[in-house]
Amino acid sequence: TGQDQGQLLADGQEEVVSRAAQALASGGLVLLPTETVYGLGADASDPAAVAAIFEAKGRPRFNPLIAHVADVATAARIADFDERARALAEAFWPGPLTIVAPVKNTAAVCDLARAGLETVAIRVPSHPLARAVLAAFGGPVVAPSANRSGRPSPTTFADANAETGDKCAAVLDGGPCQVGLESTVVAVLDGPVRLLRPGAVTRAQLEAVVGPLAEADDDAKRSPGRLALHYAPDAPVRINATAPNAGEAYLAFGPWPAGEGVFNLSPAGDLAQAAANLFSYLRAADRTAPAGIAVAPIPDEGLGEAINDRLRRAAGFVG
Ligand code: TXA
Ligand code: MG
Repeated sequence: TGQDQGQLLADGQEEVVSRAAQALASGGLVLLPTETVYGLGADASDPAAVAAIFEAKGRPRFNPLIAHVADVATAARIADFDERARALAEAFWPGPLTIVAPVKNTAAVCDLARAGLETVAIRVPSHPLARAVLAAFGGPVVAPSANRSGRPSPTTFADANAETGDKCAAVLDGGPCQVGLESTVVAVLDGPVRLLRPGAVTRAQLEAVVGPLAEADDDAKRSPGRLALHYAPDAPVRINATAPNAGEAYLAFGPWPAGEGVFNLSPAGDLAQAAANLFSYLRAADRTAPAGIAVAPIPDEGLGEAINDRLRRAAGFVG
């Protein structure tokens, strides 16, 4: 959290970045790498561009988008940040935390992007290419994960390009995503901070900054990313499977014999590595057209909470 992916912009990328900023300014869509997953970006203030995102993804229009900005100062001009929101931004930005706060500038992030809500979801990503595009463009860029609605989020350029690249005026190859899971989403409104979507920043990390979190429960309708059957591959997913059945691919975790149809999320049992591999291995397993995809039990601690959240959704359980 909070740190860059460690690379500077490579030679030639400045031109790609300025072309992407240009595409955004003319209302086009951009395939945008972030440290979490690839995003499908558009000018947040342009309702036609935002409508093109919903169209390209086949996404229900009641599902609001995250506005990506270059820095905290820009975020604080768009949303009403109280002390807790500022402390969270200070602790985790740039990085994989999204903060939902009351909207202040309803033109900067248009109604359609917010699905008509009085709140706005904002984050400052840490990926150097995303940061360069945001700096060059200047305004907020809304970017949902670049998958078509209901499919696993893309974590490699090839997967992202195959999902929605054809709808984009510019595509940026930022390599594989370091985190591999979507950002944590918290609501900082009245009352205690609420966890709307577990993610790369863990519950314990958040609670160290703002104290005990409230659960999202009755907020589920307002964060429709928490709908069941999100992130689903084509093959049925069976979770907490200690071994695969005949015909099933197996996503192992920890020591497990290699073999056909076996994709080990982390032979060493490391949760960060498992998170980074999760979506690309679900896709790889799915491409073998198995009878199903069995997934090993993942400890429900730290990053495991977010991994299990995505797995339950992939398996079709209500969250
Ligand atoms: O890591 C990420 O967050 C990636 C990268 C591209 O930044 N983006 C992403 O966006 O995952 P998306 O659209 O797939 O998920 C956005 C989530 C959804 O669950 C949505 O319901 C929630 O944020 N959200 C957005 N605005 C909200 C709001 N005003 N109130 C509550 N939830 C909101
Ligand atoms: Mg998504």
